[in-house]
Amino acid sequence: MAHMNSRVLLARRPAEHLVAADFEVDTKPLGSISEGQFMIKNIYLSLDAGFRQWMNEGSGDNYLESMPLGEPVQSIVMGTVIESRNPEYPEGSIVMGRTSWEQYSIADGSDLMSILEPDPAVELHEYLCSLGPSGMTAYFGIMDIGQPKLGDIFVINAAAGGIGCIAGQIAKAEGCTTVGIAGGQAKCEWLQTTLGYDQVIDYKSAEPLEQQLHRVVPNGIDIVYDNVGGSMLTTMLGQLAENSRIILCGAVSQYEGDGGHAAIGNMWELITKRARAEGFMFSDHVDRYPQAIEYITGMLKSGSLVSPVNWSEGIESSGQAFIDMLAGSNLGKCLIKL
Ligand SMILES: NC(=O)c1ccc[n+]([C@@H]2O[C@H](COP(=O)([O-])OP(=O)(O)OC[C@H]3O[C@@H](n4cnc5c(N)ncnc54)[C@H](OP(=O)(O)O)[C@@H]3O)[C@@H](O)[C@H]2O)c1
Repeated sequence: MAHMNSRVLLARRPAEHLVAADFEVDTKPLGSISEGQFMIKNIYLSLDAGFRQWMNEGSGDNYLESMPLGEPVQSIVMGTVIESRNPEYPEGSIVMGRTSWEQYSIADGSDLMSILEPDPAVELHEYLCSLGPSGMTAYFGIMDIGQPKLGDIFVINAAAGGIGCIAGQIAKAEGCTTVGIAGGQAKCEWLQTTLGYDQVIDYKSAEPLEQQLHRVVPNGIDIVYDNVGGSMLTTMLGQLAENSRIILCGAVSQYEGDGGHAAIGNMWELITKRARAEGFMFSDHVDRYPQAIEYITGMLKSGSLVSPVNWSEGIESSGQAFIDMLAGSNLGKCLIKL
């Protein structure tokens, strides 16, 4: 008998802010697999803020197509292969890849699909967090573009999110002084007490961000880890140290609305400060994942990495959990447990 599969569809294009009515849950029998395909019973769904960009009309680019309406929302998932007609993905394998917000997925091995060989000493969900896309993004951004040196001033925004939590701790392990920017006083306190950030900046407080940066990092920033883009990036570029590196990871402030991206100011600073800004996608580095996994596993096992998860449960919770994440309600990586 066919499995019943509940999925969360993108029902319409979001207006300025994503709302629950932009999603619809449907439940249908799952089709059968063809030669070369395999069926996954999903265990966890990863919520990744970047996918918000591709919900907008006309947002397709060189990386992804705009998500089609009436189809399940794209997502990185982890699950168990329960039926297979692909010898490379045998029944019983634990896999991770890009499919959708759904209970079961049918895949063919494309779309970042890989077989996991989980370390029994590490919790399985970590392979979607510190040892998954978030950890890979944090690690390669910092190591390749940030190139940290002892004593560097490292400033990161969306510091309490999925990427931010891991990146701040890696930068600290590399000998940087870490400054986390996040929204709200409670969140900022948590960054210091739980994640060990040296200094914090609440960008929602009454004191303007520019003034706070002058006060907290008067000698300038050596490494900017930018998850936010827009005017916050412009402000950060106004406080660079010489020979600084700017890691262009994401632009979460720009995904809602029409999906257009505001112009960035303070570009002259890049010239006079001999700075270097570079964008990247975590999936560029698949061949070097083992290096990152070894480094981060070492931190996890030695107890020097806190990897917080903001859990939600059940496929129906995905839409609201994603909305809440964009609004900043999360401490750490957002995961759905199915
Ligand atoms: N390049 C890559 O390969 C790659 C891969 C994965 C993710 N990313 C990027 O990494 C960033 C973080 O993604 P994530 O999935 O880990 O999400 P996340 O950081 O867990 O969640 C998003 C966070 O962004 C902050 N935020 C939302 N709107 C904001 C605004 N207007 N101004 C300032 N902060 C805002 C919120 O925290 P506050 O309370 O602090 O506002 C929220 O918690 C995103 O930009 C994403 O696109 C890049």
